Amino acid sequence: MTKWVVKDKDVFWPSEEMKKKANMSDPNIYGESLKDQVSFWASKASELFWFDKWKEAYQEDPPYFKWFVDGKTNLCFNCLDRHLDSRGDRPALIWVPEPPEEEGFTLTYRELHEKVCRFSNVLKGLGVKKGDRVGIYLPMIPETQIALLACARIGAIHTVVFSAFSTESLKDRLVDSGAKILITADGYYRRGKPIELKEKADKGVEGTEVEKVVVVKRLGSETKMKEGRDLDFNDIMENSEPECEPEKMESNENLFILYTSGTTGKPKGIIHDTGGYMVQAYLTTKWIFDLQDDDVFWCTADIGWVTGHTYACYGPLLNGGTMLTYEGSPDYPDLGVWWKIIQEKKISVFYTSPTAVRMFKKAGTGWIDKHDLSSLRLLGSVGEPIDREAWIWYFEKIGGGNCPILDTWWQTETGGILITALPGIGPFIPTVAGKPFPGTRLEVLDEDGKKTKQGQEGYLVQKKPFAPGMLRGVYGNPKKYMDTYWSKYGLDVYYPADGAIEQEGGNIKILGRSDDVMKVAGHRMSTAEMEDAINRHPNIAECAVVSKPDEIKGEVPVAFVILKNREPSDEMKKEIKKTTDKYIGPIARPAEIYFVEDVPKTRSGKIMRRILKNMLRGKDLGNITTLRNPECVDRLKEIIG
Ligand code: WTA
Repeated sequence: MTKWVVKDKDVFWPSEEMKKKANMSDPNIYGESLKDQVSFWASKASELFWFDKWKEAYQEDPPYFKWFVDGKTNLCFNCLDRHLDSRGDRPALIWVPEPPEEEGFTLTYRELHEKVCRFSNVLKGLGVKKGDRVGIYLPMIPETQIALLACARIGAIHTVVFSAFSTESLKDRLVDSGAKILITADGYYRRGKPIELKEKADKGVEGTEVEKVVVVKRLGSETKMKEGRDLDFNDIMENSEPECEPEKMESNENLFILYTSGTTGKPKGIIHDTGGYMVQAYLTTKWIFDLQDDDVFWCTADIGWVTGHTYACYGPLLNGGTMLTYEGSPDYPDLGVWWKIIQEKKISVFYTSPTAVRMFKKAGTGWIDKHDLSSLRLLGSVGEPIDREAWIWYFEKIGGGNCPILDTWWQTETGGILITALPGIGPFIPTVAGKPFPGTRLEVLDEDGKKTKQGQEGYLVQKKPFAPGMLRGVYGNPKKYMDTYWSKYGLDVYYPADGAIEQEGGNIKILGRSDDVMKVAGHRMSTAEMEDAINRHPNIAECAVVSKPDEIKGEVPVAFVILKNREPSDEMKKEIKKTTDKYIGPIARPAEIYFVEDVPKTRSGKIMRRILKNMLRGKDLGNITTLRNPECVDRLKEIIG
């Protein structure tokens, strides 16, 4: 068996074999790429196809910036057409359905290309034009990637809504983006049960501008189709032409909007543009996941999140790689299903979340030992800090002590990975993400904007020129763009709202969010959004939601609730959970609900969530004398126990 890592005390490095195999193994790349970041990215962009070359590689008008100005390209063409001659018959997408008795299938580049072209023509036939927004509310089935790629092909802007989000969440996103088309399914399989999706979609489109709904009959059920509005995916695909000219997109034209949670009650529509996003997705996949002809890449993220967009769709395809999509959950029919898939499909590069790792760690190795995981050579982690125990367990039990762990830091806003170790360079250090990706400048600053000393806690920032995959705005809300990312340190410093420590060798350790956003099982959730949802219940006078550490999920939401015209009861708790289900989705359900008389507030009436957070962590509460109601703190301590 090839050895991919070597150990040196508590740190791991790539083995000679890994260095030889890796797409990038020259440590000088960091220094070299920073001498002229713009030329670095421009040279990488040249590896992709452009109808017309850009006139200027980078242009800025802070806080806005552009990459590859006047360059004309098409992301879908680069993902598919570009590979047809050289690797048209290679597998692009391996799909594994959840029901164990159902056979999955593989689509080659040529087959995927044909389906995407057909669907592009379907969308055009429905009147979708360049710049129009298309909502996508689909489970993990190949039609999802087909829908994304078809939008990219014709220049429509896709906005994917995670299939477990509620009707209300879907509606909010469709209204905000002004989508005219929704692509959805009758349902999907989850933990052995068919899960209904179409009824949720039907309610979600009510009162929006959506004119047509395309329905994938995944369950083959007798879903009610609305005459004149709903169309069966298979029927319209059959009658559609298998060729479709890709739209020539100026590099800075919008590619997609993806809604994400911030510190206010309403999710923000993060805008990504075509060329810059494409180049970063391409290069990060090439150098971090090191995709090569003999690799099979499995990113377990749902397409509803940014990780799914970049690493379960665009990044692997831009590299002509083979990727796997699994419909189901990791615990059905039992906890062996992922490992069975790795063995059968010979997965070599595997990318998942710390929450999944901790879940399997807790379940014991019985499920894993039964399977041969020796095809693995790289393991990735994303979405939340990975603790030391989980890192070591992942390394030893899944990677057999033989695979580097790539702890990748990034955000919906950054479009692609920005901090990680590279497999051919290393080092791989538990709990330390690594260095900024070549060509990018990330630093840790103190409150006053000065660079911190090594080992000292501070805030992570990015300095210009900004990575090409970075967001280009917040849809319909330039003020939010400015306030959220460019107000803390000014217009030349991007502020992601994460705490960090720079360590020896320039490696960065990520501490997690420094704002009121929490990561529940790696899912980005907003405190304010959950509070807004709970406050919609008629018997809630006021509430505060904060996170609490959780052994498996990293963090879970806890709600402090002040009732009106109602006594505390289990029934009331159930109703609160139903309310978060309704307005956000089951992932926003509070893990605990405390009925309280008061929550700590400043003199101006702002809820001091920090005090509640510290209380739940058993931490020192600091000075509470400036509160309007310091007496409530002792009461709360009693209740929490
Ligand atoms: C957190 C997910 C620690 C971070 C791609 C960030 C991480 C937020 C890591 C973005 C990591 C992501 N270590 N924390 N390797 N990766 N995060 O937008 O707090 O869903 O700001 O994007 O996840 O979450 P988002």
